[in-house]
Amino acid sequence: EKGTYPHYMLKEMDEQPGVVRKIIQEYSNDAGELTIDEAILSAISESDRIYIIAAGTSYHAGLVGKQYFEKLAGIPVEVHIASEFGYNIPLLSEKPLFIFISQSGETADSRQVLVKVKELGYPALTITNVAGSTLSREADYTLLLYAGPEIAVASTKAYVAQLAVLAISAYVTGKRKGRKIDFDLKHELAIAANAIQTIVDSKEELHKISKEYLSHTRNAFFIGRTIDYYVSLEGALKLKEISYIQAEGFAGGELKHGTIALIEKGTPVFALVTQAPVALNIRGNVKEVVARGANACVISMEGLDEHDDRLVIPKVHPLLTPLVSVVPLQFISYYAALDRGCDVDKPRNLAKSVTVE
Ligand code: F6R
Repeated sequence: EKGTYPHYMLKEMDEQPGVVRKIIQEYSNDAGELTIDEAILSAISESDRIYIIAAGTSYHAGLVGKQYFEKLAGIPVEVHIASEFGYNIPLLSEKPLFIFISQSGETADSRQVLVKVKELGYPALTITNVAGSTLSREADYTLLLYAGPEIAVASTKAYVAQLAVLAISAYVTGKRKGRKIDFDLKHELAIAANAIQTIVDSKEELHKISKEYLSHTRNAFFIGRTIDYYVSLEGALKLKEISYIQAEGFAGGELKHGTIALIEKGTPVFALVTQAPVALNIRGNVKEVVARGANACVISMEGLDEHDDRLVIPKVHPLLTPLVSVVPLQFISYYAALDRGCDVDKPRNLAKSVTVE
């Protein structure tokens, strides 16, 4: 039930700190250490390459998940759009593990890939919010998101939950493989949960930002580099699906290869700056669009901030920034949709679970 909330989406965004805390709890053992099911841990550790298959927002979570498995567990990862993979299966490694990421566990595009994967005899793990869903039943293994029902069509808390579960899986695998990991993920996730809370609590400011940048626009751009790039894809998807503003997310360095032609006076450009190694580069991209008249909204992380950044998010571990930086983008999209009189929870032409190919 949405209770006193005007929309499920608002309620679900507000629930995000609690979702991260719940996941920490569900994935901790009696000794208080992060853990996942032993059989799943073995399946991941033994694979020589992970193939992540997903659609939409879950695909965007997969792109971040690739960073986690490669950096923490040392396992190469390919991330594929489900509707593409099934009809054009790439050359596979010797010991692949397939990971299906799906909030609903019912996405037909992902299911058709799972059916083919099972025919080929490869192991499959489903990461889903719905116990007993089709993708969960048909895969060998399941990891649950524990996000509680997600009713709004636009996925918010499930994305954050997917990132947390992917991080835990990769971290625990890395530990099992004896890899050098110099931080305590449990502690860092708790810090991220608090950071998300800080953003949730600043929703009035986020409404202002939404009005400032999106009131009179037809289009908007989201840019970032490395992990921020993946979050910018998700930011653009959120905005377009609920407010119908044409939005595009892309890698900052790609601007000059075409998209910059679209920048004119007043074009909103949201830029994420959470990654120290590329902070200067993305700030350079911001200068390029501002020089062409763009209305740039820089969202940076504490420690990398500069005086005229529009929003500064609390400092979290560099791998966990997506759990936090996506949240202002969700709220900004929500308010843009609200202010345009859109049906926030049920955008036109969309269904919560897409059970047709
Ligand atoms: C976007 C959104 C969709 C879903 C996609 C996959 O907000 O909700 O892009 O992410 O349809 O759905 P699941 O995760 O249920 O497989």
